[in-house]
Amino acid sequence: MTGDLLLRAAARVYTLADGPKDRPRAGAEMAALGVREGWSVVVRGGTIAWAGPDAELTADKVPAGAAELDCRGRALLPGLVDSHTHLVWGGDRKDELEMRLAGADYEAIFAAGGGILSSVRKTRERDDAALLSESMARLGRMLRAGTTAVEIKSGYGLDLDTELRQLRVARRLAEETGVRVVTTCLAAHALPAELRDRPEGRQEFVRRVCDEVLPAAAAAGLADFCDVFCDRGAFTPEETRQILVRARALGLPIRLHANEFGHTGGALLAAEFGARSADHLLHLDDGERAALRDAGVVATLLPGTSLVLGKGFADGRALVKAGVPVAVATDCNPGSCALESLSMVLALACYGNRLSPAEALTATTHNAAASLGLHGERGRVEVGLAGDLVLLATDDVRDLVYHAGSPLIDAVVHAGRLVAR
Ligand code: NIG
Ligand code: FE
Repeated sequence: MTGDLLLRAAARVYTLADGPKDRPRAGAEMAALGVREGWSVVVRGGTIAWAGPDAELTADKVPAGAAELDCRGRALLPGLVDSHTHLVWGGDRKDELEMRLAGADYEAIFAAGGGILSSVRKTRERDDAALLSESMARLGRMLRAGTTAVEIKSGYGLDLDTELRQLRVARRLAEETGVRVVTTCLAAHALPAELRDRPEGRQEFVRRVCDEVLPAAAAAGLADFCDVFCDRGAFTPEETRQILVRARALGLPIRLHANEFGHTGGALLAAEFGARSADHLLHLDDGERAALRDAGVVATLLPGTSLVLGKGFADGRALVKAGVPVAVATDCNPGSCALESLSMVLALACYGNRLSPAEALTATTHNAAASLGLHGERGRVEVGLAGDLVLLATDDVRDLVYHAGSPLIDAVVHAGRLVAR
């Protein structure tokens, strides 16, 4: 368990090392995977120390006592980066799943006080230990499906105490598992039940987010990003703008839930504020795509949510064609999509968003890492980066799409340690 590991002679290593490394990739750059045949990879103390043709591997490159993993006949990928999840929550909403399958609408359930608010009730009830263990079970399954870094949002507290508790649990998950966790304060996820019936309730909530929750989360070092659910039935562009102005003043970079249910102004706000990422984007016109491209905003597609809610898929092809860098994430949350497997969601990005398998791999590795500011440490197989790797059971990454859902992952390596086999 030293973090020293020799991965020997993979049929193909998808290094992602051939394109730009200091920014997310767009257009044709997204299809270049930097494939190397017959390469070995040495991880020393958790970091990639050498990668090259197996014939050039000499004994001095391998740490004494390093474990060895035979990769012959199989493909090696960077550990996947899940750049949009709501992983810390209490309870479940399987009852809603059945209601929706029977015809109920997600937005209507939300408007009636169910949906997000039902998870808020259950999350507030849980103590830290329960939140941690429920979330840990999900993170363990994510890891086994190939995810070695994950963004986690708050947003099921909607009050100061529970929002901070969720973020602390997210940090604890990192400490207990070693998985790289990036946190986002999504205090503006929904208007809480206790303020719904007050005429000034909306404005009071936005004030609390701006004056209480965001400053406290930033001061405690609990939030790496700020996010707002800017969409029909959630927060208006005007409310979102107030929160983003505050986030900017606090030095928090921005990610935004945008344009999921309509042309609701979120994508344009993301561009205006130079957000790192705008997410969902089912409804986007040429002008909105150009604004995202010109502002360097990563478009994060969440095809699992599209599959579950049945409200259509974001047009990934149009985004690639317009030169917008694209990332793909699970959105793992208790309501609109509880899928945990990013290696499966990568396939949905092909079938639903019409990305090519190569683009989908870039979208779940380098581009997702870049949207989180992690491109200097993850998302590629390269000397100096984290020793996070996924060994497939076959020699071709396209099998993740072709045979989507099959058990195609042979091993997951996190910081040079075998976490799943
Ligand atoms: O990204 N859109 C807002 N938030 C989540 C859904 C959360 C929930 O239903 O609990 C999403 O889809
Ligand atoms: Fe989300």
